[in-house]
Amino acid sequence: MKLNQNIIDMEYAVRGRIPIRAAELRRQGRKTIPCNIGNPQALGQKPITFYRQVLSLLEEPNRIKIERNNQDSHLSDYVLDYAENFLEKMETGMGAYTDSKGPLFIREAVAKYIDARDAKSPEGILHANPEHIFLTDGASEGAKNVLELLITATEDGIMIPIPQYPLYSATIQRCGGTQVNYYPDEENGWTLDREELQRSCDEATANGVNIKAVVVINPANPTGAILDRDSIKQVVEFSLENRLAIIADEVYQENLYGGEFISFASAVKGTDVPLFSLHSASKGFYGECGHRGGYLEVRNLPQVDDNNIPFIDVLFKQASVNLCSNTVGQALMYLIANPPEIESEQYQQFIHERQSILDDLFDKATMVRSAFDEMEGVECFGKTGAMYLFPRLNILPKDTGDFEYCMTLLEKTGLTTVNGSGFGQKKGTHHLRFAFLPPKEMLERVLPEWIAFHKNYIR
Ligand SMILES: Cc1ncc(COP(=O)(O)O)c(C=O)c1O
Repeated sequence: MKLNQNIIDMEYAVRGRIPIRAAELRRQGRKTIPCNIGNPQALGQKPITFYRQVLSLLEEPNRIKIERNNQDSHLSDYVLDYAENFLEKMETGMGAYTDSKGPLFIREAVAKYIDARDAKSPEGILHANPEHIFLTDGASEGAKNVLELLITATEDGIMIPIPQYPLYSATIQRCGGTQVNYYPDEENGWTLDREELQRSCDEATANGVNIKAVVVINPANPTGAILDRDSIKQVVEFSLENRLAIIADEVYQENLYGGEFISFASAVKGTDVPLFSLHSASKGFYGECGHRGGYLEVRNLPQVDDNNIPFIDVLFKQASVNLCSNTVGQALMYLIANPPEIESEQYQQFIHERQSILDDLFDKATMVRSAFDEMEGVECFGKTGAMYLFPRLNILPKDTGDFEYCMTLLEKTGLTTVNGSGFGQKKGTHHLRFAFLPPKEMLERVLPEWIAFHKNYIR
């Protein structure tokens, strides 16, 4: 049977040869430390209690009444009211298909969340339109839909940052388009500048590529870098001048550890640059990867060439073929957009859990960064954001690359990382990506082993 070559050719290093070898080692009884993927609850991060209390009631609505009549119930009236209220608005419950975009009341909540996020931006806000928000099964689905829509032929090019999260290279491949690389400036904290964007665009155009969009991941995966205002401005100006759309992957917008998040929604205000912005329930302090919640927000809808169908209708049609995104993911996006109110009984616990998760992540990133200081030839640039560090390995044994480094690190210490080459990197450089999620005690144990391994390996 002949299969789709585009799918055969797709690569996805995050679940590639190193994690496959790690799984083999585990089957042989070895302990491994999975730092290859941003999957927080797999490494012991506890879910936010409020979210799970509400979700459990949504799935078992009869319990709302039972818990109300139970003097000893551990659920507060606030949680019971919240769940009841949600189900009233949901109308058809959790087991029915919803509107293809997701229920309007959830999209309205998401629009308010976006507005509140951007309210502090110096540009001021342009209200998000709930009709331009699509709830999705994670951000991956939103990204796939947008790329599928934009790529019409092999010559259609999508600019992606190198290094990048391989969802983008894989999906461009799958859709049969052309990947066009641009390179953030590593030594300047992975900032972006107009000249590099233009160089990449001009070179591809000279080779017959028709660039449609530029992908920006902020905070970034795999580098963890947080983009500054100037970098974002440069991307918007570049896109405006070259008539390109921006695909802003902003799934780590709450993983900032003191850094500032500037949304592309605020940055494109006053321009007509089409923007596709993605968010997810998988990341932030929520870490609900398995529940597959997300949204796609579209601004400055472009005209559809040679057709008078409105752009939004095409997106709607695409969403309709999937019927709807899953309802638990939808409910999570509602919970993220609508956290407990300040005066509620749940508020203190919610804030405490949120802060502890974020503080813990930052402490772990700091521990790992300090370990790099003890490794000769290892440099890590940029502010800490997202869930990753992407150190550069300046010294490696002759004729070896980062893949060999990561594989040997796994064999010797059980640490499972991803080689930089899996994300793409500037020619001649070597990196690895480290997801700073394992519990502190585990890091305390393994970091000295890594330092010793490194010393020995580069000798
Ligand atoms: C930058 C980026 N975008 C998208 C995703 C996928 O997110 P989701 O689980 O919402 O599909 C990830 C997952 O790691 C990611 O790092």
